[in-house]
Parts: sequence; C-alpha cells; structure tokens
Amino acid sequence: MHFQWYPGHMTKARRMMQEDIKLIDVVIELVDARIPLSSKNPEIDELAKNKSRVILLNKYDLADDKHTEKWKKYFEEQGYFVTLVNSKAGNGVRKVNDVIQQACKEKIERDRRKGILNRPIRAMVVGIPNVGKSTFINSFAGKAATKTGNKPGVTKGKQWIKINKNVELLDTPGILWPKFEDQTVGLRLAFIGAIREEILNILELSIELIKFLQEHYPSSLTAKYSIEGSDDAVQTLSQIAERRGCKIKGGELDLNKAATLLMDDFRNGRIGNFTIEFSS
Ligand code: G4P
Repeated sequence: MHFQWYPGHMTKARRMMQEDIKLIDVVIELVDARIPLSSKNPEIDELAKNKSRVILLNKYDLADDKHTEKWKKYFEEQGYFVTLVNSKAGNGVRKVNDVIQQACKEKIERDRRKGILNRPIRAMVVGIPNVGKSTFINSFAGKAATKTGNKPGVTKGKQWIKINKNVELLDTPGILWPKFEDQTVGLRLAFIGAIREEILNILELSIELIKFLQEHYPSSLTAKYSIEGSDDAVQTLSQIAERRGCKIKGGELDLNKAATLLMDDFRNGRIGNFTIEFSS
C-alpha cells in the first residue's frame, strides 16, 4: 500500500505553529493512545525546545489499558508529563490542569523569585489531524471558560481561552503531520482511520488488520463475529461476510462490504480495546 502526503499544507502549518509557540509556556501534545509513536511527529521536539511538555494519551477508552500504562511510563522516562484522557466523554480532562502546573513548576518558581505572582501559564494544543484536538479543547475549556480576546503584545487575531485563573489556552491547535516515510506508520494510521479513506484500499487494509489481530489479540474476531476463524486472513474475512450477510446480487460474498464493516467496528471500539503499537 502506498501513502501520499501534501508538502504545501505541511509547510504552512509548520510556519504557523512556529509563530504560535513563541507565545506559550507549555505544549500540550495529543497522541492517540492506540498508536502513540505513529501519531506523533518528532519534529515537535525541535519546534518546542525550551518549552514545558505535556503528552495526553487521548482516546484511551479505545486502547488496551495495560499497554497504555506502559506508554505512560515510556514517555515519563523521557521527561514528559503524561496523563490519559478520553476527550469525547471528558474522562481525565480535569486532571490536565494539575499536570500543566507540574510541568510548569520551574517556570512558576522562576517567576516568583522575580516577584511576578500569578501570571497565567499559556498553553497550546498540538497534534496530528483527527487525534482529538478540537474535542479536547472543547472539553477542557468547558462552558464556563471565557475567551479573553486580543491582548496587547499578542499577535493580532489570536484568541485565548481562560481555563481558570492559572491557565490560558490558545484556541486554535497546532497541526502536526505524521511522519509518513515509514509504511508501517502509514498502515497504523490507516487502521485507526486517521488517513482519508479514498486513498486507501479498504480490502487490503482489512486483511492487514485481521493479520494484526490474529497475532496480538487472537480470539477477538471469533468472539465478536461468532465465527470459527482461520489462519488465512481472507478466509476469516469471508466468514465475517457470511455471518453478517454481506452478499452481492447472485449470493456471492461481498468482501468489500465486510471489510468496511470490520474497519468501522474496529475504529469505534466495537470489537474491543486494542493497542496497535507496543512500547517495548
Ligand atoms: P482533531 O481536532 O484533532 O482533528 O480531532 P477531533 O476533535 O475532530 O476528533 C476526531 C474524532 O475523534 C471525532 O470523532 C471525535 O469525537 C473523536 N474523539 C476525540 N477524542 C476522543 C476520545 O478520547 N475517545 C474517542 N472514542 N473518540 C474521540 P468523529 O467520528 O469525527 O465524530 P463523532 O463520532 O464524535 O461524531
């Protein structure tokens, strides 16, 4: 399978982020808990050097808990402040404020020594498309949050959301692009639906997913679809098609339809909670 990317967008997004990062103290980076490395772009390390760093393992509701804990430790060992969130349901979102305070502790103390008290921490959210940035910002900001509007000394047009007396958040997130050179990364992004469908072959993708699940979560498909299963991925897909009545005129199995159904079930957590990329 081949994935393509769009350099024009990337350059623009990067430039905008470079400007925004100058205004902030802490970068809140969202990654997908199912593929924490493939949904991360290492370029952010260069862009955000000298900033405090928070990583949110978002969509943890869809990932495998024991692996999510391992990923949390993995990133903490690298010096990040890490927490788990389900932005959609709001779980873990309130804790983010504490994590921001911890990440900015040194800065707060430096301010205090200079006699600057209670200057709010400025934060921005970054992440690849579809990782949940808007959902998180809405949940974190909540109803009570007020937009502070333009401020002197701040680039015109920038909106800050006052989260509480200690934290202000830039209302537009920074968009990072996944690192596409590696086809495994592309495949993992495709599994979770972070790549636009029209550039993918859904049948091939579903076969790869079946192979992955058979290796790492062997009974997940047989349990979900009440099928016998097979070592052969195409056979397994055929069984799913049969079971779910995916047929074309004349009664032949419609494997494309079964593939679409499978991917949809998988992406929405209806087969189970899976981590696709492991930290070890
Ligand atoms: P973005 O700004 O980074 O591009 O992502 P966005 O917030 O638009 O979220 C992309 C999709 O991911 C949305 O689903 C959103 O509901 C879902 N999402 C975000 N955070 C979480 C999470 O923690 N858990 C789960 N399970 N899903 C999450 P959608 O399919 O586009 O819309 P909808 O199904 O919510 O209507």
